[in-house]
Amino acid sequence: MNSILKVLGPLLKTLPEGSRRFLTGYAAASAALALLDIVALGLVAALLPGLVSGQPMVWPVLGDITEKGLVLPLLIFICLLIVLKGILAVMLLRFATKRFARHEVAIGDRLFAAYLASPWEKRLGRNSAEIVRSVDVGVGITVSGVLMPAMTLFGELGTMVAVVVVLFIAQPLIAIVTMLYLGLVALLLAKVISPRAVAIGRQNREWSNRTAKTLYEALGALKEITLADRGPEVQEQVHGTRTKSALARAGAIQISQIPRYVLETALVVGFALVGGVGLLVGGPAGAVSAIGLFAIAGFRLIPSLTRMQAVQSSVNTSASFARQVVEDIREGDEEMARQSKERPQHDLADTPADIVLNDVSFSYPGAQAPALDRISIRIPAGSHVAFVGSSGAGKSTMVDILLGLLEPTAGHIEVGGERLEFVLTSWRKRIGYVPQEVSLFDASVAQNVALAWDESKVDRERVETALRRAQLLDTLLARDGGIDAVVGERGMALSGGQRQRLGIARALYDNPQVLVMDEATSALDTATEAAVTKAINELHGNVTVITVAHRLATIRHADIVFFMRDGEVAAYGTFDDVVARVPDFAEQAALAGLTPQEVAADERSEA
Ligand SMILES: Nc1ncnc2c1ncn2[C@@H]1O[C@H](COP(=O)(O)OP(=O)(O)OP(=O)(O)O)[C@@H](O)[C@H]1O
Ligand SMILES: [Mg+2]
Repeated sequence: MNSILKVLGPLLKTLPEGSRRFLTGYAAASAALALLDIVALGLVAALLPGLVSGQPMVWPVLGDITEKGLVLPLLIFICLLIVLKGILAVMLLRFATKRFARHEVAIGDRLFAAYLASPWEKRLGRNSAEIVRSVDVGVGITVSGVLMPAMTLFGELGTMVAVVVVLFIAQPLIAIVTMLYLGLVALLLAKVISPRAVAIGRQNREWSNRTAKTLYEALGALKEITLADRGPEVQEQVHGTRTKSALARAGAIQISQIPRYVLETALVVGFALVGGVGLLVGGPAGAVSAIGLFAIAGFRLIPSLTRMQAVQSSVNTSASFARQVVEDIREGDEEMARQSKERPQHDLADTPADIVLNDVSFSYPGAQAPALDRISIRIPAGSHVAFVGSSGAGKSTMVDILLGLLEPTAGHIEVGGERLEFVLTSWRKRIGYVPQEVSLFDASVAQNVALAWDESKVDRERVETALRRAQLLDTLLARDGGIDAVVGERGMALSGGQRQRLGIARALYDNPQVLVMDEATSALDTATEAAVTKAINELHGNVTVITVAHRLATIRHADIVFFMRDGEVAAYGTFDDVVARVPDFAEQAALAGLTPQEVAADERSEA
C-alpha cells in the first residue's frame, strides 16, 4: 500500500489539472459506493444471530421483525442493495474507462512536451529508442498498470473499511481475530510477493527497452548488416533480450496469480480458526454465527484483498516505467520553469542582425578537451561566411552553438546587440538549417520540405520555390507524383544528393534570414553543387549564409573564411588571406586546384 502511494503521489502531481480532478473524483465515487456495502452487510450481521438461534429479533424502530413478517422483505432489500451496488459500480467503471483513454493521451502529451523542452545536451545523452518507448509504451503502462488500477484501490479500501466497521459493531472479538488473521496473511503476501514483483518489473522494462534499441539500431544499418552477413548475430542478440523479457513477463503473470490461491486457502483455514474461537466463547450457537459472519466478511473481503493484491503487483511491475515517466516530466518541467524564469524571451528587432561571439567556449559533458576554445568572432548581417578545418576541429559544434542548441560553457553570444539566450525563440524562427545528415520522414516530398506532418499545412508555391532554388524541382517534376511522391522511410526512395537538396529546400522554405549549412552539398556532383551554390549566393545581402564545407570550391567566394583547428579559430579572412596565412589550408586549396593564382585566373575567366 505504502509502495503504491509512493508511486502514485508524484504521478498525480505531474498530471494535468483536469486529469487529477477526474481521478480523485473517480476514487471518491467508488469509495462512496462502499456505503451501500455497509448497509447491506450491517443488515445481514443484525439478522444472522436471530436466524441462527431462532430467538425473536427486536429492532429499534421496526420492533419485533419476526412477528411482523419483515425478515423476508429485509432479505430481499439486502439483495437489491447488493445488486444496485454492482450495477452502479459497472456504470462508474464504464464512464471512467472511456475518460481514462483521454487522460492517457493528455499525460502522454505532457511527457512529450517535457521531452521537447529538455536541453539539447540531455537529449544527446539518451538513446532515441528509449525515448520512443518512454513516450509511447511507458506512458501506456503508467496509465494502465499504475494509474487505473491504483484508482480502483479506493473502492476496495472503502469496502474493506465497511466490512471491518460492521464486524466490529456486530462481534468485536470475532472482528479482532478476523482482522489479525487476514492482516497476517496480507503481510506475508506483501513481504514475500511484492519485492519479487518489483524485481521482475524492472527486468521486464530493462530487457524490453534493450530489445527495442537493438531493433532500431539494426534497422538503421540494415544494408551494412545484410552485406556483412551480421543478420544471424543481430537475430541472436534480439533472441537473447526477448527471451529475458518474455521470461520476466511470464514471471509477472505467475506471481500475480499466487496471491489468489493463498487468499482462497486462507479463507478455508479462517473458517476453522474463527469457528474455533466462536465455539470457545459462545458454544455451538456462537460458533455457527461466528462462521456465518466470517463467511459474509470473507466473501466480501477476500475478493477485495485479492484485487488489492493484484493492484499491488500491477503497480509493482509497472512502477519502474512510471518512475521514468514522472522523472522525465519533472525534468522537463524544471527546465521549462528555469527557462521562463531565467530566460524571459523577447523578440528580436526585425532588422538583419550581426552575430557576435565573445570568448565563447564549449565542452561536451565528460569530454577532456573543449570542443570550442575561447572564440571571439563577428559574423556581419547579410554576409556569407564559412567555417573550414579538419574533421573534429569543432565546426559542427560551432554551428550548434550558433543555432542556440548548445549553450556556451563560457562566454556569450550576441545577436543584433542582444544576448542570444533572451531572444532564442525569435532567433531560431529566422534560421534555416541544413544538417550534415538530412533526416526525412515517410511522407510526400512537399510535406518533407514544409516539415509538416499535416498535409493541409503545406504551402505548395513556397515548396516549389524552395525546391527550384535547391536545384531539385526539375528532377522531381520528371518523376511520377512530382512533389507529392512519397520519399519512403527515412527518404530511401531518394538518392543521397537528392536527400541533401531536399534538406536545403526545407531550410529555404521558411524564407530564413540566416541560412546555416553543415556540409550541405557534400553529396552533390560538382555541377549541381555549383548550381546550388550559385542559387544560394543569389540570396547574398538579404540572408546571412553560414557554411561548413570540406570542398573548398563551395566557399571560395565567402566573405570571411574561419579556419578552425582544435576548437580554436586559427585564422580568418578572405579565402586568399587564409591561404596566405595557413600553410595547411594552402595545401588543401592547392589539392583542390585553388591556389591564389588559379583562383584569380578563375575569377578573371568568369568575369
Ligand atoms: N555529442 C558529443 N559528445 C562528446 N563529444 C562530442 C560530441 N559531438 C562532438 N564531439 C567532439 O567534439 C569535437 C568537435 O566535433 P565536431 O562535430 O564539432 O567536429 P567537426 O569539425 O564538425 O568535424 P567533421 O568535419 O568531421 O564533421 C570532436 O572531437 C568530437 O569528438
Ligand atoms: Mg561536423
